[in-house]
Amino acid sequence: MTHMKYLIFSEEAEKKGNLAKLFKAIAYAEFVHAENHAKNLGIIGNIVENIKAAIDGETFEIEEMYPAYNAIAELQGEEGAKRSIHYAMEAEKMHAEMYKKAKEEAEKEKDIDIDEIYICPVCGYTHVGAPINCPVCGAPKEIFVKF
Ligand SMILES: [Fe+2]
Ligand SMILES: [Fe+2]
Repeated sequence: MTHMKYLIFSEEAEKKGNLAKLFKAIAYAEFVHAENHAKNLGIIGNIVENIKAAIDGETFEIEEMYPAYNAIAELQGEEGAKRSIHYAMEAEKMHAEMYKKAKEEAEKEKDIDIDEIYICPVCGYTHVGAPINCPVCGAPKEIFVKF
């Protein structure tokens, strides 16, 4: 969480130069700490186990976590939270499917057959293949981040 928070702070501080660098550097240190903790907690398995853990996590978010959050956001009339949850839910559905395909390949000891992955920087929509305008939030394909 701290890693993510510092990366976000770094983006916010981008115009201030060295402050952004400080946030990014310490975010990386927090990543190293998290990795060490994860190793010692036995969270990291083999490739297939890791993909299964990813599927389970995404599925939990889709089926339980975000619906519960959304119910509260609905109750409290939190429009920003509802939009943020909707954006995340739509992406998590794709993530779960992508990981399921990846698991099938990993079980055959094969890599996945994908070339480029594009992420919408507004909502996190995740797209494999030639970029398209975001079907979730409407952001133009030109601003997508390529992986
Ligand atoms: Fe996800
Ligand atoms: Fe989007």
